[in-house]
Amino acid sequence: MKDYFGYKDKVCVVTGASSGMGEAVAKMLVDLGAKVYAIDMNECKVDWITEFIKCNLANKEEIDEAFKKIPEHIDAFFGVAGLSGAKTDYRTTFDCNYTANMYITLNYLNNRMSKGGAIVYCTSTAGLEWKKFKREQNKVVHSKTWEEVQNVTRKLASSAPATFAYMYSKRCLSQFACEQAVEFAKKGIRINNVLPGSTDTGMKQEFQDMVGSEEGLIAQAGLAGRLATSEEMAMPMVFLNSDMASFISGLDMVVDYTDTCLKELKLKKNLEAVPATNPIICALAKKMLNKSAKNALNSGNE
Ligand SMILES: NC(=O)c1ccc[n+]([C@@H]2O[C@H](COP(=O)([O-])OP(=O)(O)OC[C@H]3O[C@@H](n4cnc5c(N)ncnc54)[C@H](O)[C@@H]3O)[C@@H](O)[C@H]2O)c1
Repeated sequence: MKDYFGYKDKVCVVTGASSGMGEAVAKMLVDLGAKVYAIDMNECKVDWITEFIKCNLANKEEIDEAFKKIPEHIDAFFGVAGLSGAKTDYRTTFDCNYTANMYITLNYLNNRMSKGGAIVYCTSTAGLEWKKFKREQNKVVHSKTWEEVQNVTRKLASSAPATFAYMYSKRCLSQFACEQAVEFAKKGIRINNVLPGSTDTGMKQEFQDMVGSEEGLIAQAGLAGRLATSEEMAMPMVFLNSDMASFISGLDMVVDYTDTCLKELKLKKNLEAVPATNPIICALAKKMLNKSAKNALNSGNE
């Protein structure tokens, strides 16, 4: 038998490994013989991982501490952890989804990976329109330090709704991946994105509350007629970081069972094609969200 994936004894770092897609990635990597370093702020229950490292990825110092516990040479990185913004503020949401991945890539993966290494970020179909909105993202994506990102997003973090941080952070991450894929290719290291559509994970309820029902979520899963499973998102991520994908770099792999095709063919409305930082749109969205939260509270009191 040939080990086509080539994960045996490879040092793989997985963020978000305690739930949903990240947990499914960690399990698959264990099965494929990798040495799995699982990072998450919640306990990781995956059997046979090499080490679980508790870390809040929205905190730079905690990331620094976490990487002290990881071997000097890293073969593959899976940036899967993410927050919807439904329960966290703008700053935390943005930093977990974007800043942490940027910081880890430039400060740790850049020095500790070598030829043959591979990186995959889990972005989202919510970030699909990143090419249209590069002007909004350039300042963030071209910031090289944690502090710089904080500075250029400061105003936004205090005025825009946290759920807008989701779309914006995912767009920034997709653009960052594209630009860094070119840089890292010079060293023989690949970078790709997986853009999941609606998936049944720990985050499902938060997205369901935003669209109003499970049917609303399923309607975002193309022609599948159901939500994807965590494993169905983990498989493309494991594939992209494996030897099977050795000539694939700079790819946005959309995994949404035709949802994007339907929008492309104008068979479905594309609600993602709006700016994420426009102050008027942000203020309107905040007003609407406050109103629906107030309504929910009032109907609960009746
Ligand atoms: N579920 C979906 O429909 C969907 C769709 C598109 C993209 N995504 C993306 O998929 C990725 C995985 O999410 P999921 O759907 O499996 O959700 P999930 O909630 O099941 O898993 C997310 C994991 O990230 C961890 N995490 C969150 N914030 C953290 C922080 N600050 N520090 C450390 N760990 C943190 C959580 O503890 C959890 O284990 C996320 O990046 C998410 O944005 C999800």
